[in-house]
Order: sequence, then structure tokens, then C-alpha cells
Amino acid sequence: MLRIYCGENYDEMSRKAANIIAAQVITKPDCVLGLATGSSPIGTYKQLIDWYEKGDLDFSQVSTVNLDEYQGLSHEDSQSYYYFMNENLFKHVNIDQAHTNLPNGLAKNVEEECERYNKVIQSCGGVDLQLLGIGHNGHIGFNEPAEVFEKETHLVELAESTIKANARLFENENDVPRHAFTMGIKTIMQAKKVVIVVSGEDKAKIIKEAFFGPVTPKVPASILQMHNDVCIVGDKAALSLI
Ligand code: F6R
Repeated sequence: MLRIYCGENYDEMSRKAANIIAAQVITKPDCVLGLATGSSPIGTYKQLIDWYEKGDLDFSQVSTVNLDEYQGLSHEDSQSYYYFMNENLFKHVNIDQAHTNLPNGLAKNVEEECERYNKVIQSCGGVDLQLLGIGHNGHIGFNEPAEVFEKETHLVELAESTIKANARLFENENDVPRHAFTMGIKTIMQAKKVVIVVSGEDKAKIIKEAFFGPVTPKVPASILQMHNDVCIVGDKAALSLI
């Protein structure tokens, strides 16, 4: 089932998404959260931190698996997703760092790293709630438009449009890594619940295409139409075409 929650603006969207995640953590304190980076979930994480500080949320038994990580960036690199997660969530709440997981961007052997990450996800017992953002080209995680849906963790070459979109966070476009490790589509689809946060007019077209157009690997997020429990949490602008 697809549910759509609309907030007036980014902050309201973030609060609604945080409410869904908080409900998950409260009803299953040892849940597994699948987490995303990027601009879309920052407000959601801020709200969760706020509720944690007020004593309303406890992350001590929560485990996390992140969607993706750039290849070649170390944990200390301020552009790495490891760094992002620490800055925007982990270091502010009582999560056990040993229960947080991301692909290792510095892994020498790509195949082994993909295998390791698949096993990490399996050994957590699967994802209870997967938080996602969506790229302008319909990517989820770094599953870029392709001829087939990639199933499990793999290394991807980032699309030119993704490099351009993410360049805003780097000093210059050439610094954006060209490859990233990402969870596959099958793994994302196996999450019990999917919550996708989306904000801004520039995402309106892809939201319409992904959720109301044909299901195709050319628009990776379109596969979510086949998932049983998906919430789109958006602001008015992002939901303006649906
Ligand atoms: C990030 C990720 C990406 C982003 C997407 C949207 O971990 O997997 O799929 O969710 O690129 O990014 P923002 O939110 O910055 O527009």
C-alpha cells in the first residue's frame, strides 16, 4: 500500500517522517533502520535528535545499515557518508556505534566488500524500516537508471547527473567520487517498510514518474510500486504533481 503524507514545507515534512521513524523505534526498540544521506533526511535526523534529547526516544538497542558510501573516501573524510551519519545523527544520540553499518569505501576488494555488506544486512535480520531519498533521475541508494534492477550490494559508476547534483557539496565537481557502493534493489525491497522523504519543486516530476508511471529499471524508484508498505513523505512542492 502507498501512503502519501504532505507537509507544508521542509520542516513539516521532516517532522512527519521523524514521527514514522520514532513510532518504529518505540514499538520495536531493537529494530533495524536502513538509513540514507543527502539533503532530504537531514531535517528528519534533527527532529529525531531533538526528541532523543527530550527523553522521548532511546536508540540504545537500534541497529542501522546505510544505503551507500562513496568509493575511495575514508571515515575521516568530511564528504564520506560515514562522516555525514556521525555528524547528522549518530554522535548526537545513544546509538551503539558498533551497531551502525555502512559499506567500507576504502575496501580494496570490491567483490569481498559487497559480499561482506550483504552478510551484515542478513545478520541484522533484515531491515524493519528503510528511509530513502530519491535522485532527480529516479535513483534510490545509488541504484542508477539501468537496463536491469541490480539485486544486492554492488559498486556503481555514478551517473553524470548524480555527479552534477552532488557537486554542490564538494569544492569542485572533479572531487566528486565517480564510484560508490550501494545496497541493491532486492535488499531495499525486502525492507518491511519504506519511507521516502522528498522536498522541493525540482523533485515533483520524478515523484510522479516513479510512483504513477511504468515500473522500469530506467526509473529505479518505480519498483517501489511493487512494495507492500511505502510512505512518501513530501513537502507541498515535491508532491505538487500527484
Ligand atoms: C543517499 C542516497 C541518494 C539520495 C538522493 C537524493 O544515501 O542514497 O539516493 O537519497 O541522491 O539526495 P538529496 O536528498 O540530497 O536530494
